Amino acid sequence: MPGQMTFPASRPRRTRKSEALRRLVAETSLDPAKLIAPFFIKEGIDQAEPVESMPGVVQDSLETLVPAVREAVAAGIRAVILFGIPAEKDAIGSEASSPTGIMARGVEKIRHEFSDEVLVITDLCLDEYTDHGHCGVLTAKGEVDNDATLVSYAEIALSHADAGVDLVAPSGMMDGQVAAIRNALDGAGHVEIGIMAYAAKFASAFYGPFRDAAESAPEFGDRRSYQIDPANGREAVREALLDEEEGADILMVKPAGPYLDIIRSVREATHLPIAAYQVSGEYSAIKAAGAAGYLDEGAVVIESLTAIRRAGAEMIITYFAVPVARSLG
Ligand code: PBG
Repeated sequence: MPGQMTFPASRPRRTRKSEALRRLVAETSLDPAKLIAPFFIKEGIDQAEPVESMPGVVQDSLETLVPAVREAVAAGIRAVILFGIPAEKDAIGSEASSPTGIMARGVEKIRHEFSDEVLVITDLCLDEYTDHGHCGVLTAKGEVDNDATLVSYAEIALSHADAGVDLVAPSGMMDGQVAAIRNALDGAGHVEIGIMAYAAKFASAFYGPFRDAAESAPEFGDRRSYQIDPANGREAVREALLDEEEGADILMVKPAGPYLDIIRSVREATHLPIAAYQVSGEYSAIKAAGAAGYLDEGAVVIESLTAIRRAGAEMIITYFAVPVARSLG
C-alpha cells in the first residue's frame, strides 16, 4: 500500500468529458469537400455493372455516369476522379488519347451536365488501354519503355485537356512523366490545367480489386519495375520531390492506410497539398470484415479516413466518398 495518495497534476481526460468538448479539441476533421469520389466508365455497356470484388462499386456506362455523379453531388462531393475502360485494347493503348474515346466523352459529359459544380480529375495511364495491361508501351524485349511512354502520356494529357478536365492525375510512375505532361499542356496553351501526381505510388497487392474494376491486370509480370518497393520510405520522398520540381500541383501518396508514415514524411518535405488514395484493397477489406460482422464498417471507415487526414493528407480519394459524405451531411 502506498503511504500518501497523490493526485495527477495533468488530466488529459478533462477534455474528453463530453461530445461538445471532444469536438472542440479535435485536431482533425472530415469534410465532404476533402473527399474525391472515383468512377469507372466502361465503353459499350448500357447499364451499370457491379464490380464483384468491390461490393457497392460499379462500372458505369456513359448514360449511368451522370445520375451517379448527381447523387455524389447531392451528398456533398465536389470532386471526382475518372477511370476509362475502352471497348478495344491494343499494344500501344491507342484508345487512351482518342478524342472520341471513353475518357474524353466521360469528361465532356460531366462538364456539360455540371459545368464548374464538379471538379473533374482524370487518371492518366495506359494500363486500362493496353492489351498487355502494363502502364506503358513495351520495347521489343517486352520491357516497359519509359521515354516512349512519355510521348504517349503527353498525347493523352492533351486529349483530356481538350475534353475539359480540371486536373490530370498521371499514375504510371514513369520517370519524367510530370515534366512531359506539363510541357505538353503548356505548349498547347493549357496552362490552367493542373497535375495531381501519383508521386509516391507503391507496388501494392492492395490494388487487386481495382484490376477487376478497371480490367487492367497485367497479362504477364508485375509492376515492380516502375512502382515503388513497399520497403522504401526515403525513395518515396525522393519521388515526391522530383514531381514537385517537375511541376506537380498536388502530390499523391498511394495506398493510404498502410502508408501513413509516407504521408507524414512527404507532408514534412513539401509545401504542396497532399492527396492520399485509400485504394481498392483497403476498401474491400473493410467491406468484407463489415459484411462478416467482424468490424463495424461505418465506424472503421470514419476512423481510417481520420487517420489518413491526421497523417497529413489534405484530401482523400476513397470508394467510401459518397456514403461518408452523406453520413457527414
Ligand atoms: C493505374 C492505376 C491503378 C490504380 C489507380 N490507377 C492500378 C495499378 O497501378 O495497378 C489502383 C487504385 C486502387 O487499387 O483503388 N491506372
